[in-house]
Amino acid sequence: MTTILQINSSLYGEDAQSSRLAREFVQAIGAVGGPGLPSVPGVEVVIRDLAREPVPHLTAERFKAFATPAGERTPAQQQAVAESDRLIAELQAADVIVIGLPMYNFGVPSTLKAYFDHVARAGVTFRYTAEGPEGLLKGKKAYVFATRGGRYAGTPSDMQTAYVKQFLGFIGIRDVEFVFAEGLALGAEQRDAAVADAFARIEDLAA
Ligand SMILES: Cc1cc2nc3c(=O)[nH]c(=O)nc-3n(C[C@H](O)[C@H](O)[C@H](O)COP(=O)(O)O)c2cc1C
Repeated sequence: MTTILQINSSLYGEDAQSSRLAREFVQAIGAVGGPGLPSVPGVEVVIRDLAREPVPHLTAERFKAFATPAGERTPAQQQAVAESDRLIAELQAADVIVIGLPMYNFGVPSTLKAYFDHVARAGVTFRYTAEGPEGLLKGKKAYVFATRGGRYAGTPSDMQTAYVKQFLGFIGIRDVEFVFAEGLALGAEQRDAAVADAFARIEDLAA
């Protein structure tokens, strides 16, 4: 059984360009990626839509809950840890992680940041060793479908790619492929060309 976790992070949920590319890729690698639709045999698709079901902002109380021994947690802390555990279990179970990633104000959507803040757990998804940090989510492959109004890929202004790569690497996911659709706000011609290029890339990756 191959499990694909598709994480949509756009405000616009399923209708977004980034979610569309992510969905197209999931379908291209042999699974039916729509909510409520069956997967092909041997492939399970789990969709986490961070617009429909946002992960709360990480507060001091929530963060403290992660370090509090299970038996000493307040009911609110138990709930916070249970939410984090559920997100981590989904990641642990996934062989392939597909992320729809729009650029918002030069960074990642705040919903994705909140998600990252809840899956980075010391002793669970990473640990510190004498040689430095070690990511504990091993043997996974990630594909990131990055959509932008402007153009940044390959320039120092693209802090988003470096950040996402760094974060995924920190929790052990080092095999990461980015597909960009850029210039989506620069007129219909550039938008259509960028989307067509991204679709061609999806076909290549899935082949
Ligand atoms: C709140 C917000 C902030 C944005 N900030 C940027 C930005 O910093 N740079 C950029 O190139 N595009 C920016 N855009 C444009 C989006 O990245 C672009 O429309 C992208 O296609 C959105 O993808 P989506 O359809 O998956 O949501 C922004 C859009 C929104 C809604």
